[in-house]
Amino acid sequence: MNTANHIHFYNLHPTLADFKAEVCHGLSVYPKTIPPKFFYDQSGSQLFDDITELPEYYPTRTEIGILHEHGEEMARLLGKGCWLWELGSGSSKKIRVLLDSLQPSTYLPIDISKEHLLHSVQTLAIDHPDLEIHAICADYSSDFQLPRGCIPTQTSGNEINRVAFFPGSSIGNFEPSQAQELLQRVAHLLRPTGALLIGVDLKKDPACLHVAYNDAQGVTAAFNLNLLTRINRELQADFNLTQFEHQAFYNDQLGRIEMHLVSKTSQEVQVDGQRFVFAEGENIHTENSYKYTVEQFHAIATRANFEPVRVWTDPARLFSVHYLRVKS
Ligand SMILES: C[S@@+](CC[C@H](N)C(=O)[O-])C[C@H]1O[C@@H](n2cnc3c(N)ncnc32)[C@H](O)[C@@H]1O
Repeated sequence: MNTANHIHFYNLHPTLADFKAEVCHGLSVYPKTIPPKFFYDQSGSQLFDDITELPEYYPTRTEIGILHEHGEEMARLLGKGCWLWELGSGSSKKIRVLLDSLQPSTYLPIDISKEHLLHSVQTLAIDHPDLEIHAICADYSSDFQLPRGCIPTQTSGNEINRVAFFPGSSIGNFEPSQAQELLQRVAHLLRPTGALLIGVDLKKDPACLHVAYNDAQGVTAAFNLNLLTRINRELQADFNLTQFEHQAFYNDQLGRIEMHLVSKTSQEVQVDGQRFVFAEGENIHTENSYKYTVEQFHAIATRANFEPVRVWTDPARLFSVHYLRVKS
């Protein structure tokens, strides 16, 4: 069977002009900031997959453990044959745990990393030849529309349950108010009876967080620095990678891991002909990863028009997976 027949690919990827505008704006403000969504070119996605295999990086194996342990119950709640939308699907590794029990009518992974998304769905289609896949390369934080034909039409008596899967605690990359707005948009799309299964990293001992984002092999550092390699290649910039270093720490007051790239010296960098000056020790803030208690996350979800129904955690309470229903 030609599995390609089951994959529809939609390219709504941010343009080079969007990338340039966001990078140049981010380097012009103080503190300098570049959004984490730009980590994910092909090398960035590969480096992220390498991070997930590290002994220090507990979130991926812990979330997968929860999905294995409670997958049957999750599938019962979500409903067989659902329309399944995954945000930030990456390698689509986690959804594989649920696919046999869920048997979705359609799977819609959305991810900003084009080649990685294509490769992941092609591999998935080989293992699940009957699965209808609509893969969308887009920025889910933008005001994008799902392509027509991807969303099931709701006719009376013929409702297909709409389900979103948002693993990896990617929701933690957003400020709490932005997280609420994003979830509100997801809830709107899932109306009137849909549900969201979402992975959220829990508050814990900062020492455990510190090692998870400062691994001994330096893979997280390489992932962070790859952002500069990407900017050099795609935007004709001249960042000297030996003059920046990875920094990650837990900001206790704000309840988040922060990742930065620190300038080791005072220097000037050109991006597409524009000059940006760095003082010695000045940072580019590249990522936040907010950690929540179950109650804190429930409060955000409730304000975003979801009703918390069920939450599963691992025995050490490192990570949580929430089943939330759209409020009617
Ligand atoms: C932290 S990784 C998580 C990957 C996978 N879901 C997991 O749990 O292991 C974030 C994923 O979301 C994608 N991503 C990040 N920001 C995005 C955005 N704004 N829009 C679409 N995809 C995004 C990345 O390409 C990457 O695959």
